[in-house]
Amino acid sequence: MSTKPRVLITRLLPEPALVLMQQTCEVQYYAADQHLPAVELRRAIVDKEGIICQITDQMSAEVLALGRRLKVVANVAVGYDNIDVPAATQRGIVVTNTPGVLTETSADLAWGLLYSIARRIPEGDRFVRAGKWHEWKLMLMLGHDVYGQTLGIVGMGRIGQAVARRARGGAMRILYHNRQRVDPAIERELDATWVDLPTLLQQADFVTLHLPLSAATTHFIGAAELRLMKPAAYLINTARGAVVDEEALIRALQEKWIAGAALDVFEHEPEVPSALKALDHVVLVPHVSSASVATRARMALMAAHNVLAAVRGERPAHVVNPAVYGTREKARPADSSETA
Ligand code: DGY
Repeated sequence: MSTKPRVLITRLLPEPALVLMQQTCEVQYYAADQHLPAVELRRAIVDKEGIICQITDQMSAEVLALGRRLKVVANVAVGYDNIDVPAATQRGIVVTNTPGVLTETSADLAWGLLYSIARRIPEGDRFVRAGKWHEWKLMLMLGHDVYGQTLGIVGMGRIGQAVARRARGGAMRILYHNRQRVDPAIERELDATWVDLPTLLQQADFVTLHLPLSAATTHFIGAAELRLMKPAAYLINTARGAVVDEEALIRALQEKWIAGAALDVFEHEPEVPSALKALDHVVLVPHVSSASVATRARMALMAAHNVLAAVRGERPAHVVNPAVYGTREKARPADSSETA
């Protein structure tokens, strides 16, 4: 009988991470590119010491309770709102995430969305493909400038900062809102000014969200906040869908409280309300903020190393619930300001 630690990999994983796991552990691998049905997850977790899971796996208290031998749950994501972290901590299960490696890739997507909505790029693509372009026109598909405008960043963690860094090349004025002000040296480097949320919403031409989903940030942007935004302003969400009250957003878009929205995430993914799909001043992509070949490979490898450390009795590098070690260390914030 193998003495290697038993590890579950819940769905398709990039090759280098998979190979590493298969060389070092006894792996039960669900190679399908779709989420593992809950009943399979419940069955598979029972004899495992480690799990490499993804944001589509709901690691509830109930599921975790089935993992009697479970030492570590490693999410291949920086956000971990799919995991009941307090329940894991209570059971002595280490939870890990993948911070840092996806920062720049995620910031790139936020900018891609920002330009897409401001300059109507997907709309133009649809127009050309539909054979509607018959001649050049001075007034065809006019968008809005990005250069020199005011960018409002909500959540100034790693990703928020990476987004800010890119804005400097576009001579933008940068406002940010974060529970705590970032280091003054970072504010100076980014030329970013902390403001309260209402001020940011009232002044920004582009509001981009980079905060983790938690009880405190659910519907952080609702009708009242959307009403504060300028009618010419755009909302970009690459954080988590439920950070925005989707119904209120639809109303804001339909009634033109704001100029448009570009969304990577949705409140009930993968469901996207048909009311959103019906609107032209909206750009919709399927939660791909960290989806580059290199970044997804790095995230998977990071998760693999986190699992390996934990099953060997070492402390993984990216623990989100240090309380599990009985330390007094403060739990590291999701920095889904990273998920952002
Ligand atoms: C994350 O890392 O949290 C992303 O949203 C998934 O790639």
